[in-house]
Amino acid sequence: MALLGKAVIPAAGRGTRSLPASKVIPKELFPLIDRPAIQYVVEEAVAAGCDDIAIVTAPGKEALAAHFAFDPALEAALRSTGSAAQLEAVRHASALGPLTEILQDEPRGLGHAVACAEEFAAGEAFAVLLADDLLDERDPALATMMAIHARTGASVVLLIEVPRDKAQLYGSVDALRVDPAALPGEGGIPSDAEIHHLTRLIEKPAPGEEYGTLAIVGRYIFTPAIFDALREVGRGRSGEIQLTDAIDALARRALAEGGGVYGLVFRGRRYDTGDKLGYLKATVQIAADRPDLGPDFRSWLRTYVENRGDES
Ligand code: G1P
Repeated sequence: MALLGKAVIPAAGRGTRSLPASKVIPKELFPLIDRPAIQYVVEEAVAAGCDDIAIVTAPGKEALAAHFAFDPALEAALRSTGSAAQLEAVRHASALGPLTEILQDEPRGLGHAVACAEEFAAGEAFAVLLADDLLDERDPALATMMAIHARTGASVVLLIEVPRDKAQLYGSVDALRVDPAALPGEGGIPSDAEIHHLTRLIEKPAPGEEYGTLAIVGRYIFTPAIFDALREVGRGRSGEIQLTDAIDALARRALAEGGGVYGLVFRGRRYDTGDKLGYLKATVQIAADRPDLGPDFRSWLRTYVENRGDES
């Protein structure tokens, strides 16, 4: 099965939800314990087989790519002090890179950020991973999305089920359930995978405008036709070029013209690290599950919660 080597990580946003912490430090570099949030996302892409990763950044966010760059002086210093564990941690981060840096010089929306990667994609299908959406590494989804793309030739988006009153926070999709066995080709897709054929998408619908309770989360596989669609859609919600509008255009286009969009439903652990509460939940869960910190942290947390009782 063809492996998808390219991944694009849009990370050019201003991080307004995280101000003032994000004034100087890009929010994608906020630590979740001892790794910046973006590192988890790059690790996810690498684990799915991507070996050519680009990050779309903005002026002032140079530290993002620098995190994945080889730093010989730091490595030499750690070697000479005998800090083997720290050396290994630093090496692990730079082994994920180097990342191609693509500059989005104006904040014109997620769709525009993806459009900036056209030259990088060079006519190949590619994955997009949003840095704010953290999927637990124990619940991988990209490999199945890649298999759906390989078998159908279509674009693929990851979906979650949300309560109806939360639908306006996401891209909403109109979907028809498909039996994985009915897809062309074979292999790579678990028989219980919840796959939908998408017919219409709308970005952050007003209450009552949503197509249902399936919402887009930040993992996508695109055919190169996304770039034509992005050129065609124009400005959408908030005056920005919306990725969801371009996916809607693909959903209405024939497979032979690079169209067709499938959705895979994700039922694993996912955190919105761009949101304060989501960031806290991610930190607590990752800490509680880590072998080095978990036992002490869980027992402290239990005592803390018991002593606080139900007071709010
Ligand atoms: C973006 C997309 C939206 C998607 C969401 C998932 O919105 O535009 O369609 O549902 O990511 O996290 P954002 O959360 O960046 O505003």
